[in-house]
Amino acid sequence: MCGIVGYVGNKEIIPILLEGLHSLEYRGYDSSGIAIHDGKVLSVLKSVGKLSKLEEILKNDAGSVNGKNGKNEHVYCGIGHTRWATHGEPSDINAHPHFDSDEKIAVVHNGIIRNYQEVKDKLVKSGIKFLTQTDTEVIVQLIAKYLKENNSVLSTICKTVSDLEGSYALAILFKEKPDKIYAVRKESPLVIGLGEKENYLASDSPTLSRFVDKIVRLGDNEIAEVTKEKVEFFNTKGEKINKTVQKVIKSKDFLDKRGFKHYLEKEINEQSEVISNLLNEFLPSSDSKVKFDHLKLKPEFLKNIDRILILACGTAYHSGLIAKYVFENLTSIPTEVQFASEYLNIKPLLSEKSLVIGISQSGETADTLTAIKRAVSCGATLVGITNRADSALADLSKERLLISKAGLEVSVAATKTFTAQITMLYLLAIYISEILGSTERNNLKPLKQELRLIPRLVDQTLTRAEYYQEQVLKYANKRDFVFIGRGINYPIALEAALKLKELSYIHASGYASGEMKHGPIAVLDPNVPVVSIIVPGETYDRVFQNSLEAKSRSAPMIAVTVDGDKKAESIFDTVLHVPPVTEVMSPFLTVIPMQFLAYYIAEHLGRDVDQPRNLAKSVTVE
Ligand code: F6R
Repeated sequence: MCGIVGYVGNKEIIPILLEGLHSLEYRGYDSSGIAIHDGKVLSVLKSVGKLSKLEEILKNDAGSVNGKNGKNEHVYCGIGHTRWATHGEPSDINAHPHFDSDEKIAVVHNGIIRNYQEVKDKLVKSGIKFLTQTDTEVIVQLIAKYLKENNSVLSTICKTVSDLEGSYALAILFKEKPDKIYAVRKESPLVIGLGEKENYLASDSPTLSRFVDKIVRLGDNEIAEVTKEKVEFFNTKGEKINKTVQKVIKSKDFLDKRGFKHYLEKEINEQSEVISNLLNEFLPSSDSKVKFDHLKLKPEFLKNIDRILILACGTAYHSGLIAKYVFENLTSIPTEVQFASEYLNIKPLLSEKSLVIGISQSGETADTLTAIKRAVSCGATLVGITNRADSALADLSKERLLISKAGLEVSVAATKTFTAQITMLYLLAIYISEILGSTERNNLKPLKQELRLIPRLVDQTLTRAEYYQEQVLKYANKRDFVFIGRGINYPIALEAALKLKELSYIHASGYASGEMKHGPIAVLDPNVPVVSIIVPGETYDRVFQNSLEAKSRSAPMIAVTVDGDKKAESIFDTVLHVPPVTEVMSPFLTVIPMQFLAYYIAEHLGRDVDQPRNLAKSVTVE
């Protein structure tokens, strides 16, 4: 993970680096730092903690690193970093940028160097002393060693990266090159921003869209030499290469909270608009067919799919679990959902007749990308679902379903992208089903009508926020939570537990309700509320029965059910109602009180809801 930014030009550099780092803070917030060349001196300033800590330090003492060297037409040149710790605890010393021993080279890094210990051992043997526990220091010390041997910066970088195994996006400043930033990458993103007599670099293009209109995406094993006037590109043999310039997609001002206290609250509240936008584009009326005209999947392929494999992590995995029910019910195609990280150890039993669906809101999750590559190597066809058109997943997927209409999700915990993903998955199931076209499946109209009603029902659910808040805060001081559900709402139990854990740090588990009696019921006591997702339909009676079993073990009981469910009201201590909805559509609604439950409890406990501890929005390490 980690975010990288860089600037060369005549503008005051510190505000630019800080603005870039703010936009990249979703990638990690354990520490931050900047390195600036003022023409003579190469200085580094860094601090453990959120970016606001660094800003405070800069406010009190910008003198040492402001990049001004007294000349009128001064070129400012600097790099910045926001960290998600992998090697070495979050601390001032482990914060980036890292210097070599002579403080002549400064490096920021996103990625993981797998062979860092081996390289470090060799460098230590040759007398180099290390200050930090990071894998990044190995890189900067190696650059320094090779630079002393051959004097050419470009060949030094080529030689250095040939010794490194793993993933990296690097931005490097050299004391001897006051107005140049060097950048190189492999498997971690890095984008160059082209301006007028100024150039930039960053880990993502939305950050650059704040400053420039044109970008160049650095590819694996490519180097950029960035100056104020121009950017030149090389391969790692040191040969010049040409790159395509792209127009940057301008993001709306995603750092605007629109009056909400937190991004999370804003994003939860955006869900009906997001679903409505997606439906208006792809299913404008219940009489129309799903308009995935850009998909080039051939009807012969769709009619002969032997199996569907969904690969994803975290919340995206939960949307995949919901899709399994919908796909199997509508298309009868066996559908399996795997944690991407687990799929790396499973024999891929796929063929050219298989469909792989990769889901990732960021499109950069390393586990998901690796698992997808493994799956498609068997000849399977990939459909990627992401809300980042400029992501690695979008690049990898010839067939892709973008949910960018959801808008950027700033809060680390996924909410609106979850409901956007399930919207696309329902639509994909209907799309395939329409192409399969058997009589039984032909009657998709009622389902499409229900789907078209979802934005209104989600909207009605969102208006109940205050009521949910009042109800759930009664439980804010409980030790653990257990969430239970069956069938299509079992994934909502998992998602509810994940949201509560990551936002409030209260331990929570999600179970298929029938599994409680096989062990987990032992944890119940008056300090462990059980939240049952119990929606009228096929699973209702069994979830009800399992809830009674939990109630008999003195657990406080909370239900998520539809309006007017008198039976639930008679046994549960608290009922979180949602508008009446069919079981198949219910996950769109039942997830909302669960998102609010996690949000309000976390807020009540004083947690940092938008940037929970230990997390990052984009998990680019395996
Ligand atoms: C939970 C959450 C994570 C992500 C997971 C996958 O709120 O945000 O569990 O869902 O890290 O991320 P993406 O979807 O970017 O692949």
